[in-house]
Amino acid sequence: MYQRFIGSPIQRRNFLKTSLAAGLTLAPAWAGYEGDDEQKPFRLGVVGAGRRGRYLLELALREGVEAPALCDIRRANLEIALDIVEKARGRRPEGYSNGPEDYRRMLQRDDLDAVLIGTDMQLHAPIAVAAMRAGKHVLSEVSGAMTIEECWDLVRSARETGMVYMLAENCCYWREPMMVRRMVESGVFGRPTYAECGYVHDCRHLEFEPDGSLTWRGRLARDWPGNNYPTHSFGPVAQWLGINRGDRMVSLMAASTGSLAHEAYVAEHCPEQSPARRAKFKGHDSVTALIRTANDVLIDLRYDTSSSRPTEGPYHALQGVKAAYDSRLGNKIWIEGCSKGSRWDPIDKYQEEFEHPLWTSWREKTKGVQHGGGDFFVTQQFIEAVRSGGPSPIDAIDSAAWSAILPLTAQSLSEGGRAVDCPDFTKVFA
Ligand SMILES: NC(=O)c1ccc[n+]([C@@H]2O[C@H](COP(=O)([O-])OP(=O)(O)OC[C@H]3O[C@@H](n4cnc5c(N)ncnc54)[C@H](O)[C@@H]3O)[C@@H](O)[C@H]2O)c1
Repeated sequence: MYQRFIGSPIQRRNFLKTSLAAGLTLAPAWAGYEGDDEQKPFRLGVVGAGRRGRYLLELALREGVEAPALCDIRRANLEIALDIVEKARGRRPEGYSNGPEDYRRMLQRDDLDAVLIGTDMQLHAPIAVAAMRAGKHVLSEVSGAMTIEECWDLVRSARETGMVYMLAENCCYWREPMMVRRMVESGVFGRPTYAECGYVHDCRHLEFEPDGSLTWRGRLARDWPGNNYPTHSFGPVAQWLGINRGDRMVSLMAASTGSLAHEAYVAEHCPEQSPARRAKFKGHDSVTALIRTANDVLIDLRYDTSSSRPTEGPYHALQGVKAAYDSRLGNKIWIEGCSKGSRWDPIDKYQEEFEHPLWTSWREKTKGVQHGGGDFFVTQQFIEAVRSGGPSPIDAIDSAAWSAILPLTAQSLSEGGRAVDCPDFTKVFA
């Protein structure tokens, strides 16, 4: 069942209460099922068993999921994943590796409830749409889509099929952003007015194979000029602001640097005769977008995967009428009437009152899990959403709105930084 609560503040509050109640569960991942259904296996297929696909598969196996079928065009990656499942379950799944469309054959199986998509980013949306149309729930790696048309395809497919679609945005489950989310919902910040977020992470070494041929990240840098990786930074902020749940993105304007750092890397690290030397890269070293929302919030969103600097990863900051938070200061918060003078406090000062119930319940399970424990929650929350019949915590409308930043920044840049309109994907309900 596909549900969504948008509109009046009362509806929004009810939605938040529902979400919170869902998060408060102390039961295992199968919480939504009782009686006979408790025995029902959760059967997951994987399309794209590379680094991410295999890692999320391993976490899902730990949560009791079965994996009857896996697909990857690279036989070597597929074999590693088949080994993982065989070791965990004593049975070797069926492998699909007969070309880039072979996942369609796997989707015809009637012993799969859901599909995890861990392919190159460029393929996420078409595979997700095909999976939902084939009656499979979807957990998709980020970003969800590359074009506005693909964004609409996602939301229409989720709506028309009723399948659970979840974007595997692990930064939304980091502990501190989740505390901030509770504080916002409790009114600690007053009305939010301004947010800053960004993904600043030198990924140039991931764009090239040793012979200088391009990985999917390299092809992304070659083919796309905008913010190519928006959801780690924008996702938590969108949740704080209630984007698509009371507020919405209205317009976006982008500006960029050149690509000097990227060019320097290619010249220094890629062999003279390699494809990388001949490629024309459209990507920029740094792209900043300013997004305005219907509730008059301004969001400053930076993307930089090429500049030489220590890795920062995603950062998130929020300004409200009564409080401010900034992860770059070491997760510090300042609350009017509460903090002393102009001294920032560690957010942990408020842990007792505002720790998110998901973290209170599941902290042990996050130990040693990559991406600040976020990967555990992504897996567990997807399983729970499917088992309980939804709603998805990060659904197709969220995925479309957040992923649309990629084509919207490209469009704005190509039009000299002009403010472009953001589509309202909640209109899929109209
Ligand atoms: N959430 C996170 O923190 C995070 C981190 C890194 C990457 N990612 C996302 O995860 C995705 C995968 O990244 P990765 O680092 O695992 O890449 P990867 O290259 O290790 O894995 C991608 C896999 O997809 C396979 N593949 C490509 N086309 C296919 C097709 N048509 N059918 C079946 N398999 C196909 C490749 O052979 C490869 O094994 C990317 O889209 C990326 O954006 C997310």
